Amino acid sequence: MKRRVVPKISGLIYGGDYNPEQWPEQVWHEDMALMKKAGVNLVTICVFAWSRIEPRPGEYDFDWVHRLMDLLAENGIFACLANATASPPHWMARLYPESLPVDAEGRVYYPGSRQHYSVTSRDYRRHVAALTREFARRFAGHPALAVWHVNNEYACHMPYCMSENTAAAFRAWLRERYGTLDALNEAWGTTFWSQIISDWEEILPPRKAPTQLNPALQLDYHRFIHQATLECYLAEKEILQAATPDIPITTNFVGLMKSLDYMEWGRHVDFVAWDSYPDPNGGLDESVLNALAHSWMRGCGRGQPWVLMEQVTSQVNWRPVNSLKPPGMMRLHSYQALAHGADGIMFFQWRASRFGGEKFHGAMVPHVGPERSRIFREVCELGQELKTLAVLQGSTVDSSVALMMDAQNRWALELGSKPSNRLNGVTEPLHFFRALWQNAIPVEIVGTDHDLSRYRVLVVPTLYLMTQATAQRLRDYVQAGGTLIVSYFSGIVNEHEQIQLGGYPAMLRDVLGLWVEEWQPLPEGVQKTLRLNATGQILRAHTWCDLLHVEGAEVLATYTSDFFAGRPALTRHRFGQGWAYYVATKLEPVDLESWLLNTLAEAGVHPLIPPQEGIEATLRMDQDHRYLFILNHLDQAREVELGTWRGVDLLHGHPVVSKLALPPFGAAVVRLDTLPSP
Ligand code: GAL
Repeated sequence: MKRRVVPKISGLIYGGDYNPEQWPEQVWHEDMALMKKAGVNLVTICVFAWSRIEPRPGEYDFDWVHRLMDLLAENGIFACLANATASPPHWMARLYPESLPVDAEGRVYYPGSRQHYSVTSRDYRRHVAALTREFARRFAGHPALAVWHVNNEYACHMPYCMSENTAAAFRAWLRERYGTLDALNEAWGTTFWSQIISDWEEILPPRKAPTQLNPALQLDYHRFIHQATLECYLAEKEILQAATPDIPITTNFVGLMKSLDYMEWGRHVDFVAWDSYPDPNGGLDESVLNALAHSWMRGCGRGQPWVLMEQVTSQVNWRPVNSLKPPGMMRLHSYQALAHGADGIMFFQWRASRFGGEKFHGAMVPHVGPERSRIFREVCELGQELKTLAVLQGSTVDSSVALMMDAQNRWALELGSKPSNRLNGVTEPLHFFRALWQNAIPVEIVGTDHDLSRYRVLVVPTLYLMTQATAQRLRDYVQAGGTLIVSYFSGIVNEHEQIQLGGYPAMLRDVLGLWVEEWQPLPEGVQKTLRLNATGQILRAHTWCDLLHVEGAEVLATYTSDFFAGRPALTRHRFGQGWAYYVATKLEPVDLESWLLNTLAEAGVHPLIPPQEGIEATLRMDQDHRYLFILNHLDQAREVELGTWRGVDLLHGHPVVSKLALPPFGAAVVRLDTLPSP
C-alpha cells in the first residue's frame, strides 16, 4: 500500500481551517452538510481557541470541542486538531508580562492580536505543555482525530525576541556551543572593534546598536532563535506523540520565510504542511516564486508528499490591495501544489468571519452564503476533481536536477556590510530556478546534507557560507561523475562568518580549477557583456562580476566590457568523473536559459515538454505510473505541445496525444502510457 500522509484518509485530503467557536452551534450542522457537499474530508480546528478553552489558568472548557469532534465523526469528516497554542489568552500577559516578546529596540509586543509570546518564556512554555496534555488526554482515541496541528506558523509575525529572558537563554545556548569564552571570542573575531567578551553576562542578543553588529554574533543568534522556536514545537510534539503514537504530527510552515531553518525542522514533522498565498496580480513571476516555494517545502520534507495546509479561495485581507482570483485561478493554484507533490489541498478558511481582523479574508463559504457564490461552486467542483485524482496519492515528484538552498547561508548572506546588498538567499536560487522552470525542467531543492548521488546536475547558487563538510560533499559529488554548477560569491566564509583566505572559493578551488581575485558588484541598471568562445554569441550580465584566474579550468566565455575584457566569465573543469562549472556573473534570464539548456543537455537532461511561455510541466510517479502535470499560468487559452508524450487525461479519461488544449489558467494531469525517454 502507498504511504499516506494521514493514515486515516485514503485519497487526497481536502478541507480547511474551521473556526466554529465564532458561530452559534446551529450553524455547525449546516457546515457539516455543506462540507459533505464540497467533498471536505479534513478540517483544522482550535487553532485560535485557547482563550475559549482555558478562560482562566487551569480552568478548562473542552465540552464544545468534544461536541464538535463527535459531530465531525458522525459526518465522516476528520479533524486536524490544533493544540491552540498560537494565541495565548489575555491572562498570560496579565500574570506573566515577561512572556511578551521584545524587539531589537526594546519595544514590547502586547496582546490584542496573536503570537504575542516569547519562545524563551518558561511561563508560556509551562502553560503550553499543560494545555497540550489536556488535548492529548481528552482526544487520544477519538475517531475524528486524524492529525495533530501544533501551534500555527511559528515565527510568522514575531520571528525574533530580544528580551532579558531571551538574552539569558542565548547565553546558555552559547555556553553549550562554545564551552569557553576564549572559544567564543575566537569564533566571533572579537578583537575587531574592541568587542572582546570577558564575562558571559556581557553577551546581548543583536539589539539596536550604532552601526554594523558583529556578524558572527548575529549568525549565532539566528541559529539560537531557530533552535529555541523548534524546542517549543518539539516539547508539544513529544506530549502528543506519547499519547497517540499513530497520529501524525505537523505544524504549518511559511514557505520562504527567513527566520526558521525548515530544512532542519522538516526532520521533526511527520509530513510537511505549508501555507501558500501567491498574489493573484503577480503574473508569471508569482507563479515561479510559488513553484520555488513548493519545491523548497517538498525538499524540506525530503521529497515526501506534503499538504497545502492553507491557501485562499479568492482574496486575502493583508495586502495593500487585495485582488480576487479570477475563475480558474484557485483551481490552478491547487493543481500547482499537486504538481509539486501535495497530497492535500486545504484553505484558510472554511467560513468567512463576521467580525475580527480577518473578516475580509476569503473562505470556502463566503459572506453571501453558499448557494449564490461562484467561490463555493468552484470549491465544490475542485472537491469532486480531487476524488477523481485520488490515484495520485502517495506518488512523488521526479527530477534529475537539484538546486541547493541553505538557511544558514541565507542568514549569513543577508547580514549587512557585504560588497553588495543585491544578492540574497532567495533571489539567487530563484534566478536559476526560473530558468529551469521556464524550460520545463523539474527541479528538486536539496539542503547541504541531502544525498546528491541521484541527480545528474546540481546547481549551487551563491553558497556564500560553506562549511568544510559541504565542500567535501560537493567534491565527492563531482568526483563520482556529477555535473556541478556553482555561481559567483560562493565559498567565501565558514560557519563563523570568517573569510577563507588565499583566493575564493578557497575550499573548492581544486574542484573548479580556478581562483577568484576580486569582484565588481554592479548597481541596478548597469550591464556587462561576455562572449561565448564556442559560438561567439554575446551574453549580457548584471548585478555581479567575479574577476578570476583559471588554474586548470577551460574558459567557456570571457568578458568583453572595459578592463575585464578577456577575463573568464564562464568556465568548466574536469574533476574526477564529473564536471564543475563556474558562473562568475549574473546572466540576463534569456541568456542564462540558453546557456543552461545546452549545459544540461550535455549532462543528459532535457526539457520534459517543448518549452512554452507560461506553461509549467512536472512529473509525479509511483511504482506503476507516471503522471504529467501541465499548467497554463496565462490568462489566455493555449494549445500545449507535449512532444512525444501520449496518455490519458486523468480527469476526463480522454486520450491525449502530443498536444493538449488548456483554457486560461487551465491545468491537466495526463497518466502517461510510456516511460519518459532517457
Ligand atoms: C496565515 C495564518 C492564518 C490566517 C491566514 C490569512 O498566515 O496561518 O491563520 O491568518 O494567514 O491569510
